[in-house]
Amino acid sequence: MNAEALLTKHFGVADHACSIVLEHSRLVADKALRVARSLGDPALDLNFIEEAALLHDIGVCRTKSAGIGCTGDAPYILHGIIGREILESEGLHRHALVCERHIGVGLTTDDILRQGLPLPSRDMVPLNREEIIICFADLFFSKKPDTLRHEKSCDEVRRNLGRFGEHKVAIFEQWLQELSG
Ligand SMILES: [Fe+2]
Repeated sequence: MNAEALLTKHFGVADHACSIVLEHSRLVADKALRVARSLGDPALDLNFIEEAALLHDIGVCRTKSAGIGCTGDAPYILHGIIGREILESEGLHRHALVCERHIGVGLTTDDILRQGLPLPSRDMVPLNREEIIICFADLFFSKKPDTLRHEKSCDEVRRNLGRFGEHKVAIFEQWLQELSG
């Protein structure tokens, strides 16, 4: 499986957006691999972690994200479920779930209903350790072109999540404990 080729295929002419997503995803994949390796657990599927991290934002290609040059129709919040749809059409069913489950620390049905998000009302939260590690690593990086390479501190991540409620920060704290090998 060639993640870069898949991204290029689906971003099409949006090559600037594609290179931003690719660079962001490489940083997320590298952090996810560092976290996974530090746990020293041979049961963790490192190959899957790398591939799925490289593809987690593929759904951005169909969103309207002017900041990175994406001119699709869909609101940005849909990039998770669009990514799932794309990867399922590519036969990558396990990777597809990472796309859907990586927004923030995951979205619950309750989050979706309370915030009135334009998403199907079902839980979209990372369930297994590979999914959690990718979601965790993604929290440390943005796709804003000027801060793409900046790895956020834990305090920055806490502040960002805090805007969505203390229960989100609590999930991050739990992951920090579980994932510090
Ligand atoms: Fe991301």
